[in-house]
Amino acid sequence: MLIIASSNGAIGIEAAMRALLKGGSALDAVEIGIRLVEANPDEHSVGYNGYPNIVGELELDASIMDGRSLNSGAVALMRGFPYAISVARQVMERELPHVLLAGQGAERFAREIGAEQREETLTEEIRAVWRKRLASTKESGDIPDLTDETPLLDLVKLTTDPERVLGTVNFIAIDSVGDIASGVSTSGWAWKYPGRIGDSPIIGAGNFADNRYGACACTGMGEMAIRAGTARSLVLYLKMGLSLQEAARRAMEDLRDLAGDYIGGMNLIALNKDGQRIGLSSRAGGSYIYQTGDMDSYQECEREVVTIPMRWGGEARE
Ligand code: GLY
Repeated sequence: MLIIASSNGAIGIEAAMRALLKGGSALDAVEIGIRLVEANPDEHSVGYNGYPNIVGELELDASIMDGRSLNSGAVALMRGFPYAISVARQVMERELPHVLLAGQGAERFAREIGAEQREETLTEEIRAVWRKRLASTKESGDIPDLTDETPLLDLVKLTTDPERVLGTVNFIAIDSVGDIASGVSTSGWAWKYPGRIGDSPIIGAGNFADNRYGACACTGMGEMAIRAGTARSLVLYLKMGLSLQEAARRAMEDLRDLAGDYIGGMNLIALNKDGQRIGLSSRAGGSYIYQTGDMDSYQECEREVVTIPMRWGGEARE
């Protein structure tokens, strides 16, 4: 049994391992671990009290994948339901021939299945951070009026800072019978344009699991993982016979081929069917966590670095 997670999963990994030790499935462990992160009001990139979009609404994205069958479920742009990972799992498990529900459809589905709803998904503290950020876009320091007709393009450009406002949680588990599952949940890029969907709910981009080879999940600038199909690429490299180390490195290096102006940071965690694990990042200093069935608590490890030259608004970035 093994669980790996992005470092913000520390609040959930031990409960997830207890579930595995009691005979729970890899899917159960992934859902339990991620729910605890989604519930954490101090984590501003996932679930309840995440940073909102530019008009102050929290829009959540999540996905879960079952490595036994490649079955998957995902939600995007969901408002009012903090446990996005549980709704994503229900999309996969209910009688519904779909993989991804977005926006009002995801919310309708969440209501229909009785998912836990919250009237208010943001605290006053986070609303104040959003108001301050918005006010900083105006010389006068006033908050611009936000109606459905307000042009947002300039606001989004002015409030863009991908290094400070991205975040997401990843969990990947192998259970006692060797089944693999992976899950990702996020509130996405803070101050994003309404309707922006990142890689987290896109199977193959931010999340992929296949019992026969392994699994991968991403955090970072989702637009890049979508363009390069990063999580699927890594698992495909495993299928082609590469070692986990080489497959992960190749999946990261593929991101260097992305042309254009908006290129930021990327991080991934991955494991193979034999229980080897790895974490990579395009920047130094990142870590991920893991726990095996015989460990009482999780361990943190450094991510190896594969650099990606970053470009933003016409300029190279460190
Ligand atoms: N990786 C999360 C996002 O881009 O939304």
